[in-house]
This record gives sequence, C-alpha cells and structure tokens, in this order.
Amino acid sequence: MINKINIAIDGPAAAGKSTISKRVAEQLNYIYIDTGAMYRAVTLLYIENGKDIINNLGNVEISFKRQDSNRVFLNDRDVTDEIRSQAVTANVSEVSSFEEVRNYLVAMQQKIGLEKGVVMDGRDIGTTVLPDAELKIFMQASPRVRAERRLLEEKARGNNIDLDKLTSQIIRRDELDMSREISPLVQADDAVLLDTTELSIEDVEAHILYLAKQKIGVE
Ligand code: CDP
Ligand code: CDP
Repeated sequence: MINKINIAIDGPAAAGKSTISKRVAEQLNYIYIDTGAMYRAVTLLYIENGKDIINNLGNVEISFKRQDSNRVFLNDRDVTDEIRSQAVTANVSEVSSFEEVRNYLVAMQQKIGLEKGVVMDGRDIGTTVLPDAELKIFMQASPRVRAERRLLEEKARGNNIDLDKLTSQIIRRDELDMSREISPLVQADDAVLLDTTELSIEDVEAHILYLAKQKIGVE
C-alpha cells in the first residue's frame, strides 16, 4: 500500500508556493490547502466589520471548492476575487499577527492535516501547523523576481501598479511576517530550501514531486 504523506510549503510572498502546491497536489491526487487565502478571508471580514469580529470567529466557516478552481468561501459567500484586493493585501499581515486569528486558523488547518494526503502552503506550516509533515519545503526567490511575478498577475487583473512600489510592498509584508511574535515566517530546521529565482514552474514541480515520491516510497 502506498503511504500518504503531508507536504508543507512555506516561504515569502510570490515565491511560487500556491502555483506549485496546486500542481503537486493534482499530480499526487492530494488535497491542496492555501492557508494564505484563509488569513485573507479573515482580513476581509475585519475590514468590513471591525476588530470585534476577531473575537467571534467561531461562527466563521472558511471552505474551498476544489471542483471549481479552488474557489474560496466565507460561509456561503464566494470571496475568491475580493481576498486578492489591494486593501486585503495591505492589511493581511497585521490581522495575521493577532493571537485569536492564528489560534482559530491553525486549529482548522491541523484538523485538515490529520487525514494525510495534504499539500499545505503558507508561512508557518512546517514549523507550527504540521511540524510532523514528512516533506517540508522552504521556497525562496529574490524580491525583485517575486515582484515581477506579482506585477504580471496584477496586470492580468487589469491593475497597473508600479514595480518599485510592488517590490517595497512585498519586502514590507515579508518583514512583518518574519518579525511577528507568534509563528513567524521562518525556515523549519528540517525543511529543504528551494530558490526558485531562476527556475521554471515545471522545474520546481518536478523537483518537489521527486522528493515527495522518495518519501512516499514509490518511483
Ligand atoms: O500569495 P501571497 O504570497 O501574497 O500571500 P498569501 O499566501 O496569500 O498570504 C497572505 C498573508 O497571510 C501573508 O503575508 C501572511 O501575513 C499571512 N499568512 C500567515 O500569516 N500564515 C500563513 N500560514 C499563511 C499566510
Ligand atoms: O503562493 P506564492 O505567493 O508564493 O506565489 P504564487 O502565487 O504561486 O506565484 C506567483 C507568480 O509567480 C505566479 O503567477 C506564478 O505563475 C509565477 N511563478 C513563476 O513565474 N515561476 C516560478 N518558478 C513560480 C511561480
């Protein structure tokens, strides 16, 4: 019997985590969980309702519709597009630093990981959410290349943002994520460091699948 494993993929903004995680999950027939989308969904609620909502997260359900291009739902509301807005991006690192938010989302993510066969990406997956994950990747890329990648995505959405501004936004968000008190962005001791600056999506995918198959025990 083939053993299912959990794969944790962490790293800074636009390193390629979600693109690659999705592809790896598809290849292995695993579930893909985008934890950044969960923090973004809570940030949207915070912007709309104010800080009180943070103390009442028990009524908030976040789910993914995998059959439908991984759309993200906040209770019954499809928030897939709204959670990528500039307002959410500008506030997400602050909201993600609140203890109540982290406790709530980490518990939800750990429950999902219990069954195994999960590829989960974020900032603290290998260190805090799934410290026993069989394969941990820490994905890096230079800030400029990451900003260029985001710029292409913003352009595709019809947004014109200056590359310098995008680069400083990304650096600022990484700094906040690395310096927060609770589960900061940091490479787990047993994570494999993968610099994607000069790698194609296909190269990164193939490398992670190779590492995963070694852990699963199939060639
Ligand atoms: O896609 P992008 O790299 O822009 O970020 P994301 O994965 O959507 O995550 C958005 C933000 O959520 C991050 O900048 C972190 O502040 C927060 N986050 C976190 O604190 N912990 C996670 N496991 C995932 C995301
Ligand atoms: O999830 P994360 O924020 O780490 O990054 P992403 O949203 O997966 O990737 C950001 C953008 O970089 C996407 O448009 C990918 O297509 C692109 N990308 C790339 O050009 N080359 C790579 N090796 C990885 C991602």
